[in-house]
Amino acid sequence: MSPIIEIPHLEEIQLDRSRPLQQQLYRQLHQLILQGRLQPGFRLPSSRRLAKELGVSRNTITLVLDQLKQEGFLSSRMGSGCYVNRQLPQDCLGLEASVWDSSVRPPVLSRYAQGLEEHGMRAEDAQGAADLPFTVGLPDLTRFPASTWSRILKRHSDRTCLMGFDDPMGHQPLREALSHYLAASRGVRCQPQQVLITQGAQQALALCALVLLNPGEQVLVENPCYAGAREALLARGAQLEPLPMGPQGVDTTALPSHTQARLMYCTPTHQYPLGGILSAGQRLQLLDWAASKGLWIIEDDYDSEFHFHAKPIAALQGMAPHTPVIYMGSFSKTLLPASRLGYLVVPEALAATFAKAKRYLGGDIPMLLQAAAADFIAEGHFVRHLRRMRQCYQHKWDHLQALLEPLAGRVETLAESAGMHLVLQIDGVDDQALCQAFLRNGFGSTPLSSYYLQGTSPRHGLVLGFAHSNGAGREAVVRLLHRLLATEFAP
Ligand SMILES: Cc1ncc(COP(=O)(O)O)c(C=O)c1O
Repeated sequence: MSPIIEIPHLEEIQLDRSRPLQQQLYRQLHQLILQGRLQPGFRLPSSRRLAKELGVSRNTITLVLDQLKQEGFLSSRMGSGCYVNRQLPQDCLGLEASVWDSSVRPPVLSRYAQGLEEHGMRAEDAQGAADLPFTVGLPDLTRFPASTWSRILKRHSDRTCLMGFDDPMGHQPLREALSHYLAASRGVRCQPQQVLITQGAQQALALCALVLLNPGEQVLVENPCYAGAREALLARGAQLEPLPMGPQGVDTTALPSHTQARLMYCTPTHQYPLGGILSAGQRLQLLDWAASKGLWIIEDDYDSEFHFHAKPIAALQGMAPHTPVIYMGSFSKTLLPASRLGYLVVPEALAATFAKAKRYLGGDIPMLLQAAAADFIAEGHFVRHLRRMRQCYQHKWDHLQALLEPLAGRVETLAESAGMHLVLQIDGVDDQALCQAFLRNGFGSTPLSSYYLQGTSPRHGLVLGFAHSNGAGREAVVRLLHRLLATEFAP
């Protein structure tokens, strides 16, 4: 009888239990066979024993063995188990020599990929997907009108016209509903044919970088800046230049008289993350300056729905009839991050180019979701939801501010009237380490320094997204901050 698989071989099989097991096990057994370490004629242990030794279900083992049998690596003999075939598929043996030899260098990556490796990660990426309380950018998921949303989804779920391919510009009813909403509530000058539905604002940013920028060109950005924008621009090979900053955001009195940049990214109606608001005069100055320098402006209007103290501030895009503005927005905060719905409003002459870029980039948005969002807006649920959430966030904001008062002196709260997060400036603190300490205690946050461009002097502190928090959570987070600043992070 052939020897059965040795235990040491089984020990070499390492399974990462956070990922699907079947594919990992298949790959590793396949590799052991190709490397000749499970030799032709070897008998594998029974599926029961393999399942026990590897700590996976018998069903998974059976599926993996069946796949290897179908591919000609194993065969079973009635009543005596499963064997490595004496004749393996020749193609794979030929491949083995180069694929699995670690001395063979993999083919080089593109310059784009090399750039991605060089410029590191933004803090949110390092943290992975998170829905912890105080995670920045997360709305209050418990207050989403889920039953209305599912009723609308259900209404559309069997419509065959939503089951085929979408127009690359996006679903027409959503583009119409958005153009009415943006004109009425944000002063955006647009027709539906200018609206492009994107997979979140992140795809909108990636598209802007592709369509408006060549690698190596300069882009002016706020400093601090939204990391999603900074990284999308860097990934495209942009040279980022900080704009002069004042208390309200971009300092429009200090704009350079000369620039080589072709593009500017900014959040003029609510600076991200510090929360400043440029006055109408300052916004006009910015527009005039950009027009005189031949610059495109990407206006990220990411959360103007949640201003508390002032009336909504009209978007830069609509302040004059023909502005060089590409306007972008997102439903991540106003509906749900998981909707992955965002939008661009582009000058009509550019719409077809943006649509082509989106088609080639891929990443379409299910039409069912778009149809539901269109009805949600057109039937008034969206505006009602925003009104309720504005009140809810203002209450949370007031509460958190009041809880933080005793820490004044050590902790300065910034982001006046910012809708869903509060910026705590804490001079001299290692904010990356503070953020990690928050994470260990089950709270999200982002280090303030991570929003600044490399090579500039960052402020330190924490950005706390309070929208997805309850009263007890806010009390607990302030207690934790108090304790950490008195112990591990004492000055
Ligand atoms: C400044 C800014 N822009 C855009 C977005 C939205 O990004 P997305 O629609 O990709 O979730 C966010 C979300 O956190 C943001 O903070």
